[in-house]
Amino acid sequence: MQVGIIGLGAVGLSFASVLGSKGISVIGMDSDLKKIEKITSKKSPFFEPKLDSFLKKALSKSLEISSDIEKTVKNCDLIFLTVGTPKSKSGFIDLSMIKNASRNIGISLRHSSKKPIIVVKSTVIPGTTINVIKPLIEKTSRKKDGKGFEILANPEFLREGNVIDDTLKPHLVVIGGSNKNSINRLKKFYHKLYDAKIKFMTTNTQTAEMIKYANNSFLATKISFINQISSLCQSISGISIDEVAEGIGVDPRIGRLFLNAGPGYGGSCLPKDLETIIQFSSKSGANPILLKAVQQINDLQIKQIVRLLEKNLGTVRNKHITILGLSFKENSDDIRESRSIELIKILLKKKSKITVHDPKAMKNTESIFKNKITYADSLLKSLDNCHCVVIMTPWKIYTKLKNNSFKNMKRKLIIDTRRILSRKNLNVEYFALGMGN
Ligand code: UDX
Repeated sequence: MQVGIIGLGAVGLSFASVLGSKGISVIGMDSDLKKIEKITSKKSPFFEPKLDSFLKKALSKSLEISSDIEKTVKNCDLIFLTVGTPKSKSGFIDLSMIKNASRNIGISLRHSSKKPIIVVKSTVIPGTTINVIKPLIEKTSRKKDGKGFEILANPEFLREGNVIDDTLKPHLVVIGGSNKNSINRLKKFYHKLYDAKIKFMTTNTQTAEMIKYANNSFLATKISFINQISSLCQSISGISIDEVAEGIGVDPRIGRLFLNAGPGYGGSCLPKDLETIIQFSSKSGANPILLKAVQQINDLQIKQIVRLLEKNLGTVRNKHITILGLSFKENSDDIRESRSIELIKILLKKKSKITVHDPKAMKNTESIFKNKITYADSLLKSLDNCHCVVIMTPWKIYTKLKNNSFKNMKRKLIIDTRRILSRKNLNVEYFALGMGN
């Protein structure tokens, strides 16, 4: 079976690399020629652990990279749609790329003898597969769903920084569709890919799409819940939010995962998906009170950090503040919706002097702030002469900081939003989100 993957972002490229590394014949297609050039030179266009080695292996085995959608559609029996569905200016989902891809798939199908299964992996609001994608393909291909092609929804749950492991071992494969035969063919494909016991859930396309939004909304809710409790803990002497999370996390009805308090969630998915589902709920006549509160709590986290800075420094104006960690999470160079970027924007407005450090995300950050901030060559240099350091992203390298690392700071004031240094006996002024002093 020849597989096609349209859209080589984190989801598409990792999927293509895993399939190719296993010798499955796959065409990875993207219209961005710069991206294609980078990928064919065996380098991922973004930092992601393990991806380069899987990509290399895949290219040497059975992965072909192409910018030709017609060729991809005409040659493939199973076509995964993995194009991005970013946030539009209004905050709602921008479907232009997926609409464009659907039209091009349809045009390519018009004179094709294949009857492929088109599998929508991109995150789309409930109803999009049957109300938007299917009609567009039908119109442009002049063929009917069920006759000229089949369509399924198959959302993914990959985490950045873990995309290869999550692609190799998903916790669940959700398949939405109405044609039993194509659902079974996709299941068979996944069985072959994973060998091991894998959990499947089959449903209709709308439910499959909704599962993805409900999943991400619940994760965001868990984070905002723990952040709210964390703010309370901070006002009570002797409490640590991590112990509280440990305690409640043992309850199997709650679970320990996603109860790490911090500066709030960022990234390309949780903030966007939450905003989309809120707007979608409102349009549908439902009032998403809880989800709006989740968002508000997330926004408050940054304000809390600024308050903590102002409380300790008096004013942040003209103060040298070092920000450690720029990516929205560790093991990623992605700064989309990163809380660190938001914090820097607020501090720049307040005329602070900012120095930053990150093991992977400096280049992306430079493209936003240009020469408005200082980019440190090394972690230790970033601390020289600053009045305060704020730890934002829990990169492993920051857990190694010790007394000696802070010796050149003008004032040894540390604000640790992730509490990664909380167990160390540091001779500094130490404040952490979620820890009462
Ligand atoms: C998320 C979902 O987890 C994934 O299933 C979906 O496919 C895409 O969106 P991702 O955005 O890669 O994945 O990152 P995730 O690990 O969910 O973290 C999101 C944000 O929440 C990060 O900023 C992270 O630092 C923050 N977070 C996460 C916390 O603050 N506390 C936690 O306990 C967990």
